[in-house]
Amino acid sequence: MIKKTNSKSSKKMNKVATKPVAMITGASSGIGLATARRLAKDGFSLVLVARRLDVLKQVKAKIEKDFSGCSVTAVKLDIADSKAVKKWQKENSDLISIVDVLVNNAGLAKGTDKIQDLKWDDAEVMIDVNVKGLLSFALPIVKVMAAKKSGYVVNLGSVAGRWVYPGGSVYCATKFAVRALSEAMRQDLHGCNVRVTNIEPGMVNTEFSTVRLGNKNLADKVYDKMTPLSGDDIAESISWCVNQPKHVNVQELVIYPTDQAHVGMVHRN
Ligand SMILES: NC(=O)c1ccc[n+]([C@@H]2O[C@H](COP(=O)([O-])OP(=O)(O)OC[C@H]3O[C@@H](n4cnc5c(N)ncnc54)[C@H](OP(=O)(O)O)[C@@H]3O)[C@@H](O)[C@H]2O)c1
Repeated sequence: MIKKTNSKSSKKMNKVATKPVAMITGASSGIGLATARRLAKDGFSLVLVARRLDVLKQVKAKIEKDFSGCSVTAVKLDIADSKAVKKWQKENSDLISIVDVLVNNAGLAKGTDKIQDLKWDDAEVMIDVNVKGLLSFALPIVKVMAAKKSGYVVNLGSVAGRWVYPGGSVYCATKFAVRALSEAMRQDLHGCNVRVTNIEPGMVNTEFSTVRLGNKNLADKVYDKMTPLSGDDIAESISWCVNQPKHVNVQELVIYPTDQAHVGMVHRN
């Protein structure tokens, strides 16, 4: 349990801080949203980050209604905008200091072009959000966790961070980076009592494919005649990890749907 503080910016935070605090990026949809609801059920208060504040406000209202005593703070932030991230971090150092569990979930894929046809804008946004965004958002929080010798970091990697597939070059590269960063965090934080888990899902039916392919009809085809994972399936695994006894660190979890044996190997009925 974290301590309350008295500084000016911390009125809202003191409300949040009556329970352990989970901060989740990309909580307006998919895995992040499901994880927010699951950790609320586990007794956490929440700080939820995404760009769509209107959606986050609806998520906040529903969670506070469904899980009595759970306080939710909605934060509008583009984690790829490093200036905005730094400004937010500076203004919210109190909030940063009380995070018990950080879920670095915000991320995306753009396009499926082969490397010879790759669009630079797509490549850049994936690197900016999945790698630079994750790092710039997480660093001050991890620093505080190390100093107070307590904390838990969950990174959303992917099976794409273990196995490359055609048309996935840069997305895979970013998720290989998330895997490397997870491993490095665990080693650098060794002795600091901070646990780090890399969650590596296969196909999960969220807004991910709509964002990647640009429209919902194409996205629906990705999951045609097979049963993908849901955001709730991944949230359940994250909840299981963070609720292990403090001496247990689940380092990595690779989770495929039963209908997917490997990145490009999908059974369709
Ligand atoms: N779905 C899959 O098959 C799958 C498989 C393996 C791994 N993953 C990983 O799981 C994570 C979550 O993806 P998902 O499947 O839940 O996709 P999703 O439904 O599209 O959710 C992505 C979330 O990230 C947020 N986000 C995107 N860019 C952002 C930015 N620049 N700043 C702040 N927030 C941002 C989005 O919110 P706003 O649009 O409101 O900002 C949204 O809440 C990602 O890291 C993804 O790579 C997904």
